[in-house]
Amino acid sequence: MFYETAGNAHGLAHDPFKAIVSPRPIGWIGSRGRDGSVNLAPYSYFNAISDSPKMVMFSSSGRKDSVRNVEETGVFTTSLVGRELAERMNVTSAPVPYDINEFELAGLTMMQGRMVDAPFVGEAHAALECRVIDIIEPRTVDGTPSGNFMVIGQVLGIHLDEKAIAEGRLDMKAVAPLARLGYLDYADAAETFEMARPSLGGR
Ligand SMILES: Cc1cc2nc3c(=O)[nH]c(=O)nc-3n(C[C@H](O)[C@H](O)[C@H](O)COP(=O)(O)O)c2cc1C
Repeated sequence: MFYETAGNAHGLAHDPFKAIVSPRPIGWIGSRGRDGSVNLAPYSYFNAISDSPKMVMFSSSGRKDSVRNVEETGVFTTSLVGRELAERMNVTSAPVPYDINEFELAGLTMMQGRMVDAPFVGEAHAALECRVIDIIEPRTVDGTPSGNFMVIGQVLGIHLDEKAIAEGRLDMKAVAPLARLGYLDYADAAETFEMARPSLGGR
């Protein structure tokens, strides 16, 4: 089948778009407002966009509190969501008022960034401290602002849980990074396999 997204007439019970673009990593974005308010929320429109320099992005459907905060302070963190944190991650997605601290709401330890004034999740096996480089509102093909806000940050510092390191690598079995699929589905990446690239031979 084929359908044009303008009409979105896929004829299915649910829009398959997010299931097609999956699995998506989850950026658990920690930020602070100018007034000191604390915020933590998951974003699966999230990814690394480069490693030299290290940059990540997340995208907000509308100007949500995380975007407001990074506009105000220019920094954020992103914590790695391991399988064991899935339920608490979900709690932090609740549509609560701006001044509610989602770390407290979900019973998570709030750690303070070393290089940026933003909090991260103490229970996470890894967290990135980021400074905002750009906030872009992409335009649609007809030039209309899309209402989505893509925040790009450069990673300045990285926290790693040494207990999650085995043989010099972040142990995927132990961490089981959570990924968002379509619908209400999630997966974790505890099962992995190796495959060398044709010409590089390394990793
Ligand atoms: C796994 C997961 C992924 C999500 N990904 C996004 C996303 O990429 N963009 C977005 O706008 N909202 C996303 N949401 C919804 C936000 O987390 C939710 O609207 C949250 O309240 C936003 O918080 P904030 O206003 O404090 O930034 C996601 C929710 C969950 C549970």
